[in-house]
Amino acid sequence: MNNALAILDSMPPPSVFYTRYWGRLPFVVRGAVPVSVMQGLIEADELAALAGEDGVRSRLVNTPDEQSTWGCQFGPFDEEDFQTQPPEKWSLLVQNVEQYHPETAALLRCFDFSPRWLLDDIMVSYATPGGTVGPHMDSYHVFLVQGAGQRQWTVANAPLSPEQEIYVDGLDLKVLRDDFVGDTVTVSCGDVIYIPPRFAHAGVTLESSLTYSVGFLGPKLSDLFMGYGQYLSEFDALDQPYGAASLGMDDTGFTVSSEAVQNFQTLLSGNVNGGHFAQWLTEFFAGSSNEDIADLGERDDILSVDTLRAHMETGRQLIKPAYVKLVIVGATNGDFYVGYGGKAVRMDNSLSALVDCMCSEQAFGLSDISEADISEPALSMLATLYNDQALEWSL
Ligand code: SIN
Ligand code: CO
Repeated sequence: MNNALAILDSMPPPSVFYTRYWGRLPFVVRGAVPVSVMQGLIEADELAALAGEDGVRSRLVNTPDEQSTWGCQFGPFDEEDFQTQPPEKWSLLVQNVEQYHPETAALLRCFDFSPRWLLDDIMVSYATPGGTVGPHMDSYHVFLVQGAGQRQWTVANAPLSPEQEIYVDGLDLKVLRDDFVGDTVTVSCGDVIYIPPRFAHAGVTLESSLTYSVGFLGPKLSDLFMGYGQYLSEFDALDQPYGAASLGMDDTGFTVSSEAVQNFQTLLSGNVNGGHFAQWLTEFFAGSSNEDIADLGERDDILSVDTLRAHMETGRQLIKPAYVKLVIVGATNGDFYVGYGGKAVRMDNSLSALVDCMCSEQAFGLSDISEADISEPALSMLATLYNDQALEWSL
């Protein structure tokens, strides 16, 4: 297979994306993000202000030169921190920007073909000429969207093996010790590079520039086991001792027979296969992947279904903001769960057209919903999601 970095002039259609690229190969798309979206994204001064806020994760990274080694400080940062930086060779990186800047969250709509339910965050970096975080690999899938200024990237053409994953010692930054084989490309505003997990990459800023990294990260299996175990432990029916009813002659003394082992496995897997799993999975993916960021809670000014209907009858429209992570998980009998803010609401098939409407992330009003879909349960569902801040009035 020829692994040269593919340079495309449009996003590959989903069928090609998933069979050829997702998790397998990096690619570059020139001018992938429309200017109208790029213009709304967070700018350098707003980013610096955000990095000054408590609870916002940020880092300042200095590129080494003849006199110094890598530098990495963690925020929050004040104005003086930026004023005392050298004119070149540093970067500011801020995480979870989609939670703080709704127009940056709107960038996510350009990645609807990706599994939005696996979104980790949008990290934004501002870098001065020569600024870089060094050669590294990430465990997530990332789309690097280039904003203002040009940046040169070298992207590996194969994933790193565990033996190749060796970092420079003693840094708060994971910088690869050894060179890697890859292709080099220069990107400018609106260009996107897709990098699969474990593909080494290194970007050096040619002029002051902004990069928006849209990252998708699957959970660790250990987190799934822990999360589901914690969830099951809340059920009274499971808070019962193992009855040891099926023990036999082989289980005497100090011996647990292989049959008894199998019994335990059946007991445990019965719960994984059981009816609670889809609901739990919905809640799991609907929660924030960053423990510093609280899930959206109920509004102070909650609306009754009648008030919501009255507003909508005047022509007002609702919209699901891009920063709200919605998760739709299939359940039994054609039902499905809608997850948001760490919770799951079970819905039947009659609500699916309305849920599709929300997933489009376009403003919608009563005139966009068919007569048949404007039912009491539908309006009640909209009121619930509005009251939980998963929907907003569109301006
Ligand atoms: C950067 O924007 O400098 C780093 C982004 C990345 O490599 O993931
Ligand atoms: Co990276």
